[in-house]
Amino acid sequence: MSSLKFEPNDDILDFVIKKANGLKGLVDTNLEIIPNQCIQPKEQRLDKSQIDNQESIPTIDLSNFDDLNVEKSIQEAASKWGFFQIINHGIPIEVLEDLKDAAHKFFELPAEEKIKYHKEKVSPGESVLMFWSAIGEKDEKVLEWRDSIRHGCNPQNDSNLWPPQTSNQVLEYQKWATPLAKRLLEVLLKGLNVNEIDESLELLLMGTMAIIINYYPPCPNPNITIGCRRHCDVSCITLLLQDDTGGLYVRGTKGDNWILVNPIKGALAVNIGSLLQIMSNNRYKSIEHCAAVDSSRARISVPLFLNPNFDSVIGPFSQMLKDGEKPVYKHVLFSDHWNYFFGKRPSGKASLDFVKI
Ligand code: OGA
Ligand code: NI
Repeated sequence: MSSLKFEPNDDILDFVIKKANGLKGLVDTNLEIIPNQCIQPKEQRLDKSQIDNQESIPTIDLSNFDDLNVEKSIQEAASKWGFFQIINHGIPIEVLEDLKDAAHKFFELPAEEKIKYHKEKVSPGESVLMFWSAIGEKDEKVLEWRDSIRHGCNPQNDSNLWPPQTSNQVLEYQKWATPLAKRLLEVLLKGLNVNEIDESLELLLMGTMAIIINYYPPCPNPNITIGCRRHCDVSCITLLLQDDTGGLYVRGTKGDNWILVNPIKGALAVNIGSLLQIMSNNRYKSIEHCAAVDSSRARISVPLFLNPNFDSVIGPFSQMLKDGEKPVYKHVLFSDHWNYFFGKRPSGKASLDFVKI
């Protein structure tokens, strides 16, 4: 692997993306200074002076999931923080550990193997896809410091197309996480007076799912790059597994502070995506978050995005508007929302502005 070479004048997008060496391959060249196209503009970096150790997002114990107090704390966390962690959620620890091990195995493969999974464009029905996020105009594109692979979990399940290194582990995780996610959605919707998830609502809330594995290689200059830029997820909800490296930061309640999502063994982070914020007419909050990178350790995270069917129409639930409340958002096709977001990759909350009335 150390035979890989990258010279300062080489085309980084070609090396990282086209040849599928990834950021991992770049790190394996033992580079001392990161290429200019990995240096984030100041406003995209994580300003360390804004990290706030006073606040923390709630951790909710799901041992007694049916307890009304547990339901209430989920609903409150979704309104106040938009982000919380869950423990004792019922997914066996081995399932989570195996998934993280599989992630390392895949991303440590040589480029010749990984390139088989590389495609240029993300579409929600896609079965498997390795991708990178390079944001900005053609020659000024700045790369996030991560390699990602997306496992689309469509109903006909094309898991036979998934890499052999990850396929069983992702499938097993999906098997456990799907009913958990549905239960979380039931509780969240109950808090909006939507009392049953029937078939059509299930299609709207979790008609398509995708399990992404993010691999953040160690970075020689972690302060001037970013693993994942600040953004709100385009999803109904997201469940996120992370390892114990730490790096996920969420906007705190003061507006300009960032709080660390402290890694807890066996826990999952849950966050409200912008689609549920829209459907709830702002009762639930989709919160900005970002991922920093470490100077010495590779970090793994595995978000599971629960999304509508591509041809769904999204907008505030009628239950929200019953008492004359004004809708904050228009109804739009999910596919239009998706294409807007992934066409422009707006940062922060811009994807919500797209549908604001
Ligand atoms: C994401 C994300 C955070 C992380 O992929 O949407 O927010 O910790 N990831 O990797
Ligand atoms: Ni996210």
